[in-house]
Amino acid sequence: PTKVIFDTDPGVDDAMALYFALAHPAIDVVGITTTFGNVTVEQAATNALYLTAIAGKTIPVTKGVATPWVKPGEAPPAFIHGADGLGNLASRVATSNQLDPRSSAQFIVDMARAHPGEITLVAVGPLGNLSLALKLEPQLPKLLKEVILMAGTVVEPGNVSPVAEANVWNDPHAADHVFTAGWKLTMVGLDVTHRVIVPLAMFKKIADKQKHIATDVLHHAVSFYADFYSGIYPHVAKIHGCFGHDVLAFIYLVNPELFVIESGAIRVATEGIANGQTMMKRKDIFHPQAGWADKPATQVCMQVQAEACNTLLEEVLM
Ligand code: BDR
Ligand code: CA
Repeated sequence: PTKVIFDTDPGVDDAMALYFALAHPAIDVVGITTTFGNVTVEQAATNALYLTAIAGKTIPVTKGVATPWVKPGEAPPAFIHGADGLGNLASRVATSNQLDPRSSAQFIVDMARAHPGEITLVAVGPLGNLSLALKLEPQLPKLLKEVILMAGTVVEPGNVSPVAEANVWNDPHAADHVFTAGWKLTMVGLDVTHRVIVPLAMFKKIADKQKHIATDVLHHAVSFYADFYSGIYPHVAKIHGCFGHDVLAFIYLVNPELFVIESGAIRVATEGIANGQTMMKRKDIFHPQAGWADKPATQVCMQVQAEACNTLLEEVLM
């Protein structure tokens, strides 16, 4: 299986992604690095520990950056993920998993140095941990096997502003640093995640079958998340579900043939009306300006086989 560090801000779709990764035989989650985003970094770390503990796993969990690199932090979106990030769980069972004392960035650097060329980093929150890890170890792009991000959007409208996706919006400077660092990089953004509507009924079916606390927690969390999305998007309300977002980064890892890719440099606007926009230098267009011509290409997911993603998600979680 592929060794993966999962960088995350759990978060309901983060939890869905984590459980997909833990259940998939081709994925070996060797560490979970947390960041602020959907919740504070303290809550994100607490949730990562809780989700792994109730799934019966002991995987190193670290706490990472608590704020954006440059812009001021914002209150977490409790109306989307719940105040606790997991749809406001009524209670939690006692668990005993403990945090790894290292920072998320240090953990990423340590693991990359210990296993050069072997680790895939899947990041589905704001990108401060990766940016900080790059500052600690400039050779990181050579030490990691590849990086897959749930972040950004090219053609699809943003979900925080008309042009900005939330993970990029939450730390645009870190995102621009990560997009221009020169690793083997794939962006799984709203262009594809907004195509995959996951029905809440799938999680009820899984919970009913498994009768396990982990799938009960996931079902509860997704029902809160699905109410939010169904309240905003009529086509999502018809299915009563939510967008797949973070889990799509893992689906790309295991089944890249389900996606149509375009390749080109991505830059991030870091101020003004377009703050947080991911702009792509699309192929066949001559743009010699500095800031573009010399930047590495990102593989950008532009289309996805949505039904196949839902089938795979259900098979793996079931
Ligand atoms: C992204 O933002 C967060 O709310 C989700 O967890 C996902 O990572 C979608 O824009
Ligand atoms: Ca996330």
